[in-house]
Amino acid sequence: PNSFHEFKLVLLGASAAGKSSIVLRFCKGEFFENQEATIGAAFLTQSVPFDDYVVKLQIWDTAGQERYHSLAPMYYRGSAAAIVVFDVTDRNSFETSKKWVKELITEVSKDILVIVVGNKVDLEHKRSVQIEEAEEYTKEKGLIYIETSAKTGLGISELFKLIAKRLTEF
Ligand code: GTP
Ligand code: MG
Repeated sequence: PNSFHEFKLVLLGASAAGKSSIVLRFCKGEFFENQEATIGAAFLTQSVPFDDYVVKLQIWDTAGQERYHSLAPMYYRGSAAAIVVFDVTDRNSFETSKKWVKELITEVSKDILVIVVGNKVDLEHKRSVQIEEAEEYTKEKGLIYIETSAKTGLGISELFKLIAKRLTEF
């Protein structure tokens, strides 16, 4: 394992899926209903404490709008892990997440830990992608699937703890 326990992490996915909201919830404990679309990318760091060590995550929160797509490789190349986010109430965002997974597998394949996140589970009544479907897809690709709500905080610390744990194990 990396003796400094310091890893680069990137978030990818459709615009408005909730990437910035997930990062802000994790790094600052904040959530904004009117969170603005990211321009280019944003950089934040946060540490995840374990019993006898701390994992420092250097987080690149990319912009999901299509015009920024060509910038993404700059952020995912050299990343130890990628969180691919979709919105469980938005089927198009699930399809977009599959395209990101495909791109990651083609471009950086085995070098990166990929986690697929279904966000906005607080909007259960509006859900259009069922857990079973997302799990079936990620299982087939050999990836981890986690559901979160940046709004309520559900699953957020578990997501980053899991990533930090996996990264120190390999
Ligand atoms: P880009 O920066 O354009 O790629 O978008 P993004 O993926 O960073 O999405 P962002 O975090 O800006 O969130 C988009 C909208 O969804 C904002 O209005 C957020 O308040 C809202 N949002 C994000 N996460 C959640 C969630 O878990 N639940 C609910 N109800 N709304 C959320
Ligand atoms: Mg954003």
